[in-house]
Amino acid sequence: MQILFTSTPPADVRLHARVVNQGAALAGLDAALVEGAAASRFSGRAGQVFEGFASVGGTVKRIALAGAGEADGADRRMDCERAGAALTAKFLVSTERVMVLDLGQAGLSADTAAAVLLGLRLRGWRHDAYRTKLPADKRPSLETVHVTGAPAGTEAAWEREAALAKGVEFARNLVAEPANIIYPASFVAVCEEAFAGTGAEITVLGEAEMEALGMGALVGVGRGSERESKLIAIRWNGGAAGDKPTVFVGKGVTFDTGGISLKPPPGMEDMKWDMGGAGAVAGAMLALVTRKAKANVIGVMGLVENMPDGKAQRPGDVVTTMSGQTVEVLNTDAEGRLVLCDALHWAQEQYDAARIVDLATLTGAMIISLGNEYGGMFANDDALAEQLNAAGKASGDKLWRMPLGANYDKLIDSPIADIKNVGPREAGSITAAQFLQRFIKNGTPWAHLDIAGMVWSGKPGHTWDKGATGYGVRLLDQFVRDVAEG
Ligand code: BES
Ligand code: MN
Ligand code: ZN
Repeated sequence: MQILFTSTPPADVRLHARVVNQGAALAGLDAALVEGAAASRFSGRAGQVFEGFASVGGTVKRIALAGAGEADGADRRMDCERAGAALTAKFLVSTERVMVLDLGQAGLSADTAAAVLLGLRLRGWRHDAYRTKLPADKRPSLETVHVTGAPAGTEAAWEREAALAKGVEFARNLVAEPANIIYPASFVAVCEEAFAGTGAEITVLGEAEMEALGMGALVGVGRGSERESKLIAIRWNGGAAGDKPTVFVGKGVTFDTGGISLKPPPGMEDMKWDMGGAGAVAGAMLALVTRKAKANVIGVMGLVENMPDGKAQRPGDVVTTMSGQTVEVLNTDAEGRLVLCDALHWAQEQYDAARIVDLATLTGAMIISLGNEYGGMFANDDALAEQLNAAGKASGDKLWRMPLGANYDKLIDSPIADIKNVGPREAGSITAAQFLQRFIKNGTPWAHLDIAGMVWSGKPGHTWDKGATGYGVRLLDQFVRDVAEG
């Protein structure tokens, strides 16, 4: 969707929209519209939309009012996003190709006006690439939004939010693509194209290099796949030269069959989005690079496909990780931690990180605990946990902190190796986090975000359609804004 700022929108546009605060008088509107809005119980509640038609100077106009909640509401920014998103949800497939949006109403500031536009754009993302027979009434029509009356500074604020939207859309696309399209090498190729010419430095390791580095756990997961495993690091040096980098690490299992510990067929197709952690890291890096964030940030993604095969690793196999610790692979379906432990260790060897945050669709148990409302957060550092929590609240990508502790940790001691890759059924998300913590060097602030319940949505939300949500991109961008930039 194209968003253009103008003081004189084209005269022939039928659809005109504006933002309305809760309980506000509808000034300057046709009496029939005012009466229609009241009769339809339109109050300006956040996300509410009223549409009516009016004859203006002999031509029929389609007038839309989008509710932004109370002018001084506690969640004003989010309410403004919802107003913009509700307009998109209403008119995306409406036959209208163009909208004029008046942002000179409702006492919007540059920031809240940009929030309206962010909601408008994010709600418009869809993945229709493979739908060749989409009926006309289901095909997106809305292409262009002419913004008028925007408060001073809105264009600059929008530039920043547009970078964020680009990152969210990039992550959603990666997550939504099926596993025959996005596999480790093609994930790398898509990133190389997206980051070309941006000033970001890209490092890619292939399977032979990772084998030589001793990444027996990551390479072990990919053994059953025809697709070569990869590790990609995207580095952005936007901060001061001596500033230690913030490092994000993502689980990128491009398809998770479970391996020899094969998953049951129903729902296995969901495991195309088992690379959602890596998708969020790639999307966040693209947002940061696009808006030229003043921070040093590195995104590391471990990319593998987990398949059953004659060459696949077996339950009971013992692998040696890059850290030297040995792991008894009791269940080949607990593969995410095997990928992450080597990616985390490599990242710590490679970079002197100020802090490390990993994101992973790591456990089904996380969805049992928190459903689809919060990502689960595990951290060895209270200050980092609080910063992430605040970024979650501000961005809308919410987190809920979970415990770590020695009594959980001993549940993954192995009788034959240093660690086993699964504990008992109980506390499955926590023992998975304990596994990762064994690969974090003392003193490095680290957080693990289990986002299994957040990457994909079965139904539309405020700012997303059903499908890939892009969860994590806004969280990480906000975190960098708050913690690593100025
Ligand atoms: N990718 C899955 C976790 C998952 C499940 C994410 C459902 C999203 C939706 C992970 O690799 C996995 O299979 N975990 C196992 C761990 C178990 C074998 C200890 C699980 O959660 O069942
Ligand atoms: Mn698995
Ligand atoms: Zn998995």
